[in-house]
Amino acid sequence: MNSRIAGMGYYVPDRVVTNDELSQHMDTSDAWIQEHTGIQARRYGVKHEETTTTMGARAAKIAIERAGISKEDVDFIIFATLSPDYYFPGCGVLLQRELGITNTEIGALDIRNQCTGFVYGLAVADQFVKSGMYKNVLLVGAEMHSMGLDFTTTGRNVTVIFGDGAGAAIIQPTEGEGILTSHLHSDGTFAEELAFINPGSHGGYHGGKDMYGYPSEDTLGGIFMTPTMIEEGHIYPYMNGQVVFKKAVVKFVEVIHEALNKVGLKQEDIDMMIPHQANLRISQFVQKRLGLSDDQVFNNIQKYGNTTAASIPIALCEAWEAGKIKEGDLVCLAAFGAGFTWGSSLIRWS
Ligand code: UT7
Repeated sequence: MNSRIAGMGYYVPDRVVTNDELSQHMDTSDAWIQEHTGIQARRYGVKHEETTTTMGARAAKIAIERAGISKEDVDFIIFATLSPDYYFPGCGVLLQRELGITNTEIGALDIRNQCTGFVYGLAVADQFVKSGMYKNVLLVGAEMHSMGLDFTTTGRNVTVIFGDGAGAAIIQPTEGEGILTSHLHSDGTFAEELAFINPGSHGGYHGGKDMYGYPSEDTLGGIFMTPTMIEEGHIYPYMNGQVVFKKAVVKFVEVIHEALNKVGLKQEDIDMMIPHQANLRISQFVQKRLGLSDDQVFNNIQKYGNTTAASIPIALCEAWEAGKIKEGDLVCLAAFGAGFTWGSSLIRWS
């Protein structure tokens, strides 16, 4: 028994935020952003109306319909995001409620693998389906980054990159080939090089060291988020862009080769590669290293920015809608991001 993607959907909010609009809030420019990232615009959800879950639900409804099933047929939910509605519970159960799924026999799993969330989620879904445990797994990757970014010059290297959106897929059993192989990796040594560490049980301390100069009060217990963290602005994502970039370009290529070697295929056999949309320069570097033509790689970061867990399913769905992925094609997904974590999947499209 193999598994396949039986239906896909995506949703991006209507509001287009251009590089010029961002440059009204921070010291940046359209020229810098395009040159360093390839991004021209990104989408932002409607503040206080939309959330990561509501965006995920819009994508999920389309995927469910395209898979030819009803919402009550979904027997397991996997939700990947780094910008959840709540600290807990996770978006999986919120999505179940938002979709109006009343079946309580199902499970809902949240995964926190940031940019590799969809690739990790697909591997989990694949194993559940292959084992015969579930027949209609709903996998969603969604982000509402715009609610958690620093719109001052301090946060510009991170803020200009990210955008909001959601993508979804239904994974079902197939007699055909479907998902051929998945490869997942991690290296926690780099955990803080790309991270959003507050609030957290570290309470301002890391490895016994005071990170922010807060006095260690002699109290029972502590607090995940201190008032000083907010006052001093320690409430935004941090990224060491150069370190991430240098690792990403190496690991993308490695993990794609690993997948191809596993199934005895070559890079020229790839019909469509969907790289996580981290930075157009990273995608272009990987494309060049693999010797792929422009027709063999799909990028949409120019319009949407980096939508983290949503970036692969949005791009996969857009490419499929545009007729760029056909029955029998070899599709390669690959991602690298915070953790660091990275991974790849090869799919024989059916
Ligand atoms: O999806 C998750 C994984 N994330 C990634 O894969 C991201 C990987 N990294 C990157 O995409 C790039 O490193 C960035 C786009 C984040 C940054 O580009 P860079 O070419 O590596 O720039 P840099 O960080 O080395 O900074 C170069 C200069 C600095 O100024 P100085 O010190 O040379 O005066 C930065 O302060 O560019 C400055 N800078 C900016 N200037 C205008 C950083 N961000 C901006 C900005 N606008 N938005």
